[in-house]
Amino acid sequence: MSFGKTQQQDVKLQIRWLIRRDMVEVLKIESASFEYTWSEEDFLRCLRQRNCIGMVAEQDHEIVGFMIYELHKSKLRILNFAVATEARRRGVGRQMICRLIDKLSQQRRKEIVLDIRETNLPAQMFFRSEGFRAIQILRDYYDDTDEDAYVMRYQLAGIDEPRSPYMIKNRISEYDESELEDV
Ligand SMILES: CC(C)(COP(=O)(O)OP(=O)(O)OC[C@H]1O[C@@H](n2cnc3c(N)ncnc32)[C@H](O)[C@@H]1OP(=O)(O)O)[C@@H](O)C(=O)NCCC(=O)NCCS
Repeated sequence: MSFGKTQQQDVKLQIRWLIRRDMVEVLKIESASFEYTWSEEDFLRCLRQRNCIGMVAEQDHEIVGFMIYELHKSKLRILNFAVATEARRRGVGRQMICRLIDKLSQQRRKEIVLDIRETNLPAQMFFRSEGFRAIQILRDYYDDTDEDAYVMRYQLAGIDEPRSPYMIKNRISEYDESELEDV
């Protein structure tokens, strides 16, 4: 988990709730980040749900990242998350995930989950570096391609659950921490 790493070189961010007038910048980051993108209507429909939250990270009053997540009884589910291309690899994503992890314990929730495309290796490596593990494969999960999805999960320390029957051995689980540092 990355808490042990120094955060001295991380950029100084303000992390706050997403508001409607952030949408122009959020949509720019979305379209630069994904091949299959959410439309503005997709964002707004999602954010109208009572259990859906939008968060943005600002650096010098400019939005450099966003995250959309859902609240469930015992977990948080990340639905959409991206950092502006020019702001990547400076700890923005890490600070946003750390904020979410802080919320878990405050809210007595135990885990964070997300589905991730099998071809999105950089994001898999990112989540792996932040303490997430792949726990399940969802075959042929997407409408737009015939990709599988990996379910990745972060669990608060001290939560002991029986090993999942879907526990898989794949190219993510085969990396060990020392190999990750070199990527
Ligand atoms: C995934 C994403 C959010 C990461 O954001 P970021 O701000 O660049 O990540 P950070 O700088 O906080 O990286 C933290 C650690 O994650 C790992 N990591 C991040 N990007 C990585 C990459 N491209 N390859 C390998 N490891 C990576 C590294 O260990 C990194 O630490 P280091 O830079 O000290 O080596 C960003 O790459 C992104 O927006 N990708 C496109 C959108 C996307 O795929 N979203 C996720 C799907 S829900």
